[in-house]
Amino acid sequence: MKKLFALIFMVAMGSFLLSGCAGNGKNHKGESSMGNQMNNSMMTNGKSTSSVSSKEGKTYTANLDNGSKVYHKVCIACHMTGVAGAPALKDKTRWTEIAAKGMKQLHHDAINGFTGKHGVMPARGSCTDCSDQDLYDAVSYMLKTAGVTAAK
Ligand code: HEC
Repeated sequence: MKKLFALIFMVAMGSFLLSGCAGNGKNHKGESSMGNQMNNSMMTNGKSTSSVSSKEGKTYTANLDNGSKVYHKVCIACHMTGVAGAPALKDKTRWTEIAAKGMKQLHHDAINGFTGKHGVMPARGSCTDCSDQDLYDAVSYMLKTAGVTAAK
C-alpha cells in the first residue's frame, strides 16, 4: 500500500515537473539539481557536527620524544636557565606551583600565551609552526623534567 502511494506520488511529481518545464532536457536538469542540493545539505550537516564534536572531545596523549624535540628547539631559549622571568626547569618550587594549575590550563597558556608576575610567556613560545599537540608534548616534557606532575 505504501509502495503504491509512493509510486503515485512519483508519477504525480513527474508529470508536475514535466508540465512545469519546457522540455525533457530541462526536466532532467531540474531533478538532478534537486538531488545535488539534498546531497550538499546532508554533507554540510555531517561535516559541521563532526568537527564540533572533535573539538570539544579532543583529548591529548603526551609524546615525550616529540616534546623533547620541541623543547630543545623552542622553549629552551627561556626555560633552561629562566630567561625573562621564565621558570627554569630546575626550579622545582615554581614548577610545583605551575603544575597545580592543571594540564588543561597549562596547555591553554602555552597555546595562547600567559602573563604572570614573573614575565611574559609568548603565545606558542613564539613558535608559529608548533601544533597544539607539539605544545602539549613540550609542556608534558617540561613538567616531567622538572620532576612534577600536573593536577589533571
Ligand atoms: C621568550 C621566552 C619564552 C619562551 C621561548 C617560552 N616561554 Fe614559557 N614562559 C615564559 C615566561 C616568562 C613564563 C612565566 C610567566 C610568569 O609566570 O610570569 C613562562 C611560563 C610557561 C608556562 C607556565 C604557564 C602558567 O600558567 O604558569 C608553561 C606551561 C610554559 N611557559 C610553556 C612553554 C613552552 C611549551 C614553550 C615552548 C613551546 C615555552 N614555554 C617557551 C617565557 C617563555
